[in-house]
Amino acid sequence: MAGPIVQLVDIPQRGDARGALSVAELGGVLPFVVRRVYWIHGTKPGVSRGFHAHRRLRQLCVCVAGSVRMSLFDGRREESVVLDSSAKGLLIGPGLWREMHDFSPDCVLMVFADAEYDEADYIRDREAFIRHAR
Ligand code: TYD
Repeated sequence: MAGPIVQLVDIPQRGDARGALSVAELGGVLPFVVRRVYWIHGTKPGVSRGFHAHRRLRQLCVCVAGSVRMSLFDGRREESVVLDSSAKGLLIGPGLWREMHDFSPDCVLMVFADAEYDEADYIRDREAFIRHAR
């Protein structure tokens, strides 16, 4: 049987009486050297994003505020997870079609990636992705 598509990791919590502090570091929750960080925020109501896969890129997504539903599809099976905690990270490896839905207005989705932006690494056509995945 194939393994899970959704891979969640527990992000160490180092908060105290002053408030929360979450840590993502190499050798801890991060399985790769981070070469790029971006964050998606201010998403307008009803907007969905993503609708692509990557050929090689690995990412760790952390919803540090609000909530978002992440849908992952490996070409055969689709799994969905709601990210609503800065204590959970979603690891997305290569070869997964991702969609982001149901952003809360306050959602801030941080994404840590193992490579710089490269449009050639994207597969933006779903049918082409399914052919690539199989
Ligand atoms: P895109 O990947 O289409 O967003 P999403 O898939 O999350 O809906 O990116 C939107 C635009 O931002 C596109 O013009 C490419 C640009 N972009 C960068 O320049 N650098 C980056 O690291 C990312 C993620 C996007």
